Amino acid sequence: MSHQIIEKNMGLMMILVVVLVTIGGAAEIVPLFFDDKITEPVDGLKPLTAKQLEGRDIYIREGCHVCHTQMVRPFRHETERYGHYSVAGEYVYDHPFMWGSKRTGPDLTRVGGRYSDEWHRLHLEDPRQLVPGSNMPSYPWLSENKVNPNRTARKMRGLRFLGVPYTDEDIAGAADALEDTLEMDALIAYLQQLGTVISERR
Ligand code: HEC
Repeated sequence: MSHQIIEKNMGLMMILVVVLVTIGGAAEIVPLFFDDKITEPVDGLKPLTAKQLEGRDIYIREGCHVCHTQMVRPFRHETERYGHYSVAGEYVYDHPFMWGSKRTGPDLTRVGGRYSDEWHRLHLEDPRQLVPGSNMPSYPWLSENKVNPNRTARKMRGLRFLGVPYTDEDIAGAADALEDTLEMDALIAYLQQLGTVISERR
């Protein structure tokens, strides 16, 4: 009887569906907040240096995440190509996450250390110098622009507020560490540390 009342009353049914989905969602999501495997950094994870942090912002500004994911899924065809699958503890200092959703180019989770700095410089200036037929855009201005260090300390303070363990010295030294740094070098510094905290490669 009671379900007839619900089925004949769309408003009531919608409210009950929302209640049900909320309870179901909470039951799946809330336990994750208390799971150390997900909330604790993996051993050896370090916050990005001032230079790497600015490199990450250039990565975002240039839209690299639109074509590149940073998430190796635990499937054989992924781990054979990219290396160890991603684990949650690698990302706890990442705000926002750079997981991405579309792979026009390869996943970059474990690209750190795979190529030399010089390879990256040539590749970013014009990918076709190294990979004929590549449809990745060229980023020649990165070799001309200097990183603007004025806001780095503030960014680090903001990240510390979100739980990234920057020390006062890290923050005080940020502007000096970036003096005369090319955007290209900051971006490469960011790329070269990607995924290196888990070094197992196949
Ligand atoms: C329009 C899509 C697109 C954008 C935007 C893009 N890429 Fe790529 N990227 C590719 C493609 C396709 C490849 C594979 C061919 C090649 O190596 O050039 C690639 C390859 C790479 C590789 C080599 C990966 C490997 O494992 O061999 C790196 C590193 C890279 N991109 C970094 C970047 C960075 C950094 C940016 C932003 C400044 C960027 N890409 C923006 C499409 C893109």
